[in-house]
Amino acid sequence: MTINHRPIGVFDSGVGGLTVLSELYRQLPQESIIYFGDTARLPYGTRSPEEIIQFVREIITWMENQQVKMVVMACNTSNALALEAINGEFSVPILGLILPAARAAVSVGKRIGVIATPATAASQAYRQAMIEVDPTVQVWQVGCPEFVPLIEQNRINDPYTYEVARSYLQPLLQQKIDTLVYGCTHYPLLDSVIRQLLPKTVQIINPAVHVVQSTAQELDLLGLRHTCAPKPTYFCVSGLAQQFRSRSVCWLGHTPQVEQVDLSYL
Ligand code: SIN
Repeated sequence: MTINHRPIGVFDSGVGGLTVLSELYRQLPQESIIYFGDTARLPYGTRSPEEIIQFVREIITWMENQQVKMVVMACNTSNALALEAINGEFSVPILGLILPAARAAVSVGKRIGVIATPATAASQAYRQAMIEVDPTVQVWQVGCPEFVPLIEQNRINDPYTYEVARSYLQPLLQQKIDTLVYGCTHYPLLDSVIRQLLPKTVQIINPAVHVVQSTAQELDLLGLRHTCAPKPTYFCVSGLAQQFRSRSVCWLGHTPQVEQVDLSYL
């Protein structure tokens, strides 16, 4: 197999990375993809940096064994806590979401709110990335520990989720933000709820859009684009395959084939 024909590896703790997957389908429809959801160990957002770095090492090692040509971290927590730590350890190119999303946010806003997992918010990764690009922007970050469990349980339209979202957004609305970044790939799945709570003038940045634009640029730069029809996406999880199948069907629009894999041998 020539390297261009190899798949792109995409990973997240659970269903959040499907928001990146759907952008890959939209922007790069000819690429084949291997999707890994670390569902046995989610949520990542309340884990320590040491744990996240270990998980990311295991996942990328597994992806290299699957012969991927590039890895896209569809998980902000992994990007915030592990991308720098694993720098230089793997030969496969690894792309994170935070830098492309931060650039997109500062290109449209001056008063920027970021909602993220507690680990991503505590890392200050978004603030640092934005201030490096434009030191005049103001950034407020809110950790949202309840969002990922609610999304993984498909409780999108639950009134409780609406109330939780209202409480997380309140401090950002008080600061009169002009831009909101979804600092976790799960959060675009709550878009319908969040938009009800924001003034129409607030611009929303979905990092999935921007990381896939960066992926396209990187593929071009490295001459790695695939130009024929892709293979069906290969879905793997560390937890129960049936659980991921039933949780992902409403986001994918079809029932995926899912395989459970064991990373503990690595
Ligand atoms: C989580 O598992 O807490 C979500 C990870 C992320 O996308 O930041």
